[in-house]
Amino acid sequence: INPEFAFKVVILGDSGVGKTSLVKYEIKNSFISENDSTIIFEHSFKNFSIMGKNVRLQIWDTCGKEMYRSSVQNFYRSALCIFVVFSLESLDSFNQVNQWIEEIKENNTEDYILVLVGNKSDLTQPRKVGREVIEEYCKNNSIENYFEASAKNGDNVHEIFKAVVKQLFIKFALPIINENQEKRNEEKELSFNKKFFNQNVMGCYKNCCYNQ
Ligand code: GTP
Repeated sequence: INPEFAFKVVILGDSGVGKTSLVKYEIKNSFISENDSTIIFEHSFKNFSIMGKNVRLQIWDTCGKEMYRSSVQNFYRSALCIFVVFSLESLDSFNQVNQWIEEIKENNTEDYILVLVGNKSDLTQPRKVGREVIEEYCKNNSIENYFEASAKNGDNVHEIFKAVVKQLFIKFALPIINENQEKRNEEKELSFNKKFFNQNVMGCYKNCCYNQ
């Protein structure tokens, strides 16, 4: 299926928080317990159908290691959606979220949708990042999209991507669709007016001529 719209999504966050696992679960519906660390980035895609249109998410999974930080910046410059992932098992990874977000603000000049994901919600031990702390952070930084998920048991993974595609579609595709529709309506109106003019005004003119 040829998609009518494609949205670039980039996945950021510290190494080991589960970025690759989330993407793999979304695309392959499976969890691999031992992933090699991503080398700079991996590209994949998934098609969705929304409001009768075929849309594609182009997903750029990046490596969270410090050594790749500057290379990774190139990938999110033109992204329409950026995920920042941290692990609910690691306070360090949450403490790094702000740095990721600051870097994004410096490097992405486009309008984009930011999605914060607390991964590894399947944890068997008490969570290391409290709900209140996350809520406070989101409130202070106007983050409207915060989700918790588990790439291990799949909790909330498909739901997050579905919600994100919908938001992307509404924000970036719908205005184009509406604008095109308006243009088509204007063209239709114009051709109707022309026809009307030809049929009536010209007809009347002919009749007038005829009547004379
Ligand atoms: P980099 O590629 O180095 O940036 O790491 P990453 O963020 O892509 O992490 P990755 O997906 O490779 O996962 C790191 C480790 O966490 C792996 O051993 C995964 O199996 C594990 N893991 C990922 N997601 C989850 C999860 O939701 N729950 C649990 N329990 N483990 C997870």
